[in-house]
Amino acid sequence: MTDLSRFPNLHLVDHPLVQHKLTLMRRKETSTNGFRRLLGELSTLMAYEVTRDMPTQPIEIETPLETMSGTTIDGKKLVLVSILRAGTGILDGMLSVVPGARVGHIGLYRDPQTLQPVEYYFKMPQDMQERDVIVVDPMLATGNSAVAAIEKVKAMHPKSVKFLCLLTCPEGLDTMYKSHPDVPVFTAAVDRQLNDHGYILPGLGDAGDRIFGTQ
Ligand code: URA
Repeated sequence: MTDLSRFPNLHLVDHPLVQHKLTLMRRKETSTNGFRRLLGELSTLMAYEVTRDMPTQPIEIETPLETMSGTTIDGKKLVLVSILRAGTGILDGMLSVVPGARVGHIGLYRDPQTLQPVEYYFKMPQDMQERDVIVVDPMLATGNSAVAAIEKVKAMHPKSVKFLCLLTCPEGLDTMYKSHPDVPVFTAAVDRQLNDHGYILPGLGDAGDRIFGTQ
């Protein structure tokens, strides 16, 4: 059992709905279609947790009966940054609850020999210094891609940066906290370990392949 107290910025989302859907996603029998649908549902649920401290503004509105002060968010101040390609699977579910959010993309692939990230694409919205960023990738495995992505994002001086994944492991969290101890990490599970190929055990396999049916 991993001692999670050494990761003070870790937010483990242990809601029963989240854990149920994650378990279905892990099963090797789950089809591409089912995996994608569950990922969408899970991302929507995770969106509630990761946006919990989003800034709100009061607004005066009229109900059919009287005037009241309501609460709004400014969704376009939020940027969801997807680490390609698996991060894309998280976007739809999150955008279904924050439809005004902006979207950035970072293309990174893992060199299979070194397991180090190689960048091939980077596109962010303008005025990043006015926005809060959530970097998304289903798997925080070695942590190398997430660390590189967050470095690039931080260089644009956003107001804040968070990281959202479905699954991680102690090795990934260690790497992340060494480079970015200030970045809160939201995950549905911390699994046992990485294998020699950089896959999480017990994990769910290759998230990209399972989302896109490319295996
Ligand atoms: N990326 C994946 O898709 N799965 C893992 O287990 C690790 C990295």
